[in-house]
Amino acid sequence: MNVARSIAEYRALRSGLAEPVGFVPTMGYLHEGHLSLVRVAREQAASVVASIFVNPSQFAPTEDLTAYPRDLERDLALLEAEGADLVLAPEGEEMYPQGFDTWVSVEELTRRLEGASRPTHFRGVATVVAKLFNIVRPQLAVFGQKDAQQALVIDRMVRDLGFDVDLVISPTVREPDGLAMSSRNTYLEPNERAAATVLRRSLLLAESLYNDGERSAETIRVRIQELLASEPLVEPVYVSVADVATLMELETIEGKALVSLAARVGKARLIDNVVLPPGEELI
Ligand code: PAJ
Repeated sequence: MNVARSIAEYRALRSGLAEPVGFVPTMGYLHEGHLSLVRVAREQAASVVASIFVNPSQFAPTEDLTAYPRDLERDLALLEAEGADLVLAPEGEEMYPQGFDTWVSVEELTRRLEGASRPTHFRGVATVVAKLFNIVRPQLAVFGQKDAQQALVIDRMVRDLGFDVDLVISPTVREPDGLAMSSRNTYLEPNERAAATVLRRSLLLAESLYNDGERSAETIRVRIQELLASEPLVEPVYVSVADVATLMELETIEGKALVSLAARVGKARLIDNVVLPPGEELI
């Protein structure tokens, strides 16, 4: 496995990769969720590129950029063990050179959910992913359903700007008790970690209500809010039952719906989601 620490190094190594190239962008501190994306890329492409870059522009000044966990050596060992061919781990100064002034902004889709609480977040994500696509030149890129709105925003960007990249959205990998794996889970104290399972339990409640015939989005939102309220360590940020294409809140579930939630638990801000009907794909 090769590691490129600059764009020039990457370009020199890119020409030796078998096509098609599958790409997994990450911010590092890898867990089983990230590694599952590498496996999907391995299955669907001839070679696999992963990137590790903690992207400053997707963090607000008040967020956890400096505290964000990092362990490059461990990440490289994990990627090597999964059979990644090339890792791009660029420096901040090269990704955001002096005078950087070009942004990719997906508009309507980013006003809701994560975008409502984190107004500049998706501009940072779309910009860095666009730049990574231009540098990496993949034919296929794999993103996790865990960050459902992010996947929808990248899909919108790819279609709007004509990127020649096929997106694959991969299922959320969970801890044995159902908590979605996240680098931010390391911020949780043991009692918070136990309380955090209520996110998954809320989504299972939504699925079972749906399976029992409930189609009122408001009823599902209220039932989830009631369940979340049973865990005093969990402070909900939003509970949404929205149209998957537009992310507009629904009154009645007719087609596909995205049930998503965000909550603060101690120092962590956690998100999770499920698509209804259960088992349907996000995109
Ligand atoms: P990061 O949070 O490191 O996540 C990298 C990829 O792993 C994303 O596609 C995310 O959805 C996926 N992922 C995270 N947890 C997962 C889980 N439990 N199961 C399955 N997939 C999971 O998302 C980002 O980085 C950044 O925004 C990035 C796209 C790299 C741009 O900076």
